[in-house]
Amino acid sequence: MSSTENHPLFQPAKLGSCELRNRFIMAPLTRSRSDEKGLASDLMAKYYAQRSHDSGAGLIISEATNISPLAYGYALTPGIYSEEQTQSWKKVTDAVHEKGGKIFCQLWHCGRISHKDLMPNGEKPLSASPIQADAEAFTQEGKKQASEPQEMSQTQILATIKDYAHAAKCAKEAGFDGIEVHCANGYLLHQFIATQSNRRQDEYGGTIENRLRFPLAVIEACLEHWDAGQVGVRIAPVSHFNDVSTEDPQRDYEYFVDKLDKLSLAYIHVIEGNTGEERRTKIEFDYTQLKDKFSGQYISNNCLDLKKAKQLFNDKKLDFACFGRDFIANPDLVKRFKEEASLNELKEDGLYGGGEEGYTDYPFLENK
Ligand SMILES: Cc1cc2nc3c(=O)[nH]c(=O)nc-3n(C[C@H](O)[C@H](O)[C@H](O)COP(=O)(O)O)c2cc1C
Repeated sequence: MSSTENHPLFQPAKLGSCELRNRFIMAPLTRSRSDEKGLASDLMAKYYAQRSHDSGAGLIISEATNISPLAYGYALTPGIYSEEQTQSWKKVTDAVHEKGGKIFCQLWHCGRISHKDLMPNGEKPLSASPIQADAEAFTQEGKKQASEPQEMSQTQILATIKDYAHAAKCAKEAGFDGIEVHCANGYLLHQFIATQSNRRQDEYGGTIENRLRFPLAVIEACLEHWDAGQVGVRIAPVSHFNDVSTEDPQRDYEYFVDKLDKLSLAYIHVIEGNTGEERRTKIEFDYTQLKDKFSGQYISNNCLDLKKAKQLFNDKKLDFACFGRDFIANPDLVKRFKEEASLNELKEDGLYGGGEEGYTDYPFLENK
């Protein structure tokens, strides 16, 4: 056995109440292979099953999945709120389980990263405050500048909390092993946390306690349907992806993680640095403070390679290592890591939308 194969990252481990076969996590990855009804397709089942074969990911986190008709910001992304959607996901969760894998559902509301064309009645998308993002939404006609949002009323906030709880319940019925609440990458819950996008004067804005009121209420509502050991939260404390920023991320996210710790969640999933760009940013951030505050597991993501992941594990800076683009291009990523084999290169074609090309046609090691 090589020293790589012996590394604890390749050994079974417990994440919350889930037994995983290794410590490699496949990141949530929007691939836009659904349809206008937000159903999971046979092709999606094939894609996820490919990435959960024998030596696949310990855990797959599904692509971001819309919690209600108002959650969409990208055409052809799936949903998890109607009976038909819930049934459609069963073929995905079954296919993953047949291969011995585990899959969590990432619950998503895009908030202001959307366009009026995507809203059920052509209304303005929802957000914390009526501040337009310098970002793009994907409509059926292609990319469009995100629309100016409407400031959510307290009634809309309470209704959205209910929508999350309902989606969490649907995810359970669909056979997922757990859920991840998406509080990162500039989407709705992040818009409430970030000072750039939240200028509210009521109890949902201002202090960090107030800015977290809605995200924490969402997480607590999801816990009505799931054990805490099956729930994780994704955060991106300093990422500027989708035009968000926060004045004092260290203070805000330490406060957030303290609260999450009290809920005994399975994990925090931290995008360290700028999503998909770099781990180190001009904004200094001490991630070990977050890890130390949290008694559950710490998943680290963003621009990792195997060497870096091993080093961070050895230094006790991560418990689980999460890879995004490498899992898109390498269905057998963990096997390649184990054998120190070369990786397939990512193709831009087919990243978002399309059919098999750039989705299920990446070669496995033995077929190369
Ligand atoms: C095609 C693509 C789709 C993505 N979709 C999501 C998503 O649905 N939810 C999410 O939280 N992050 C999403 N991300 C961000 C990834 O989960 C991950 O944070 C990012 O790719 C950095 O990890 P990596 O360097 O291992 O690729 C996406 C990234 C890519 C490239």
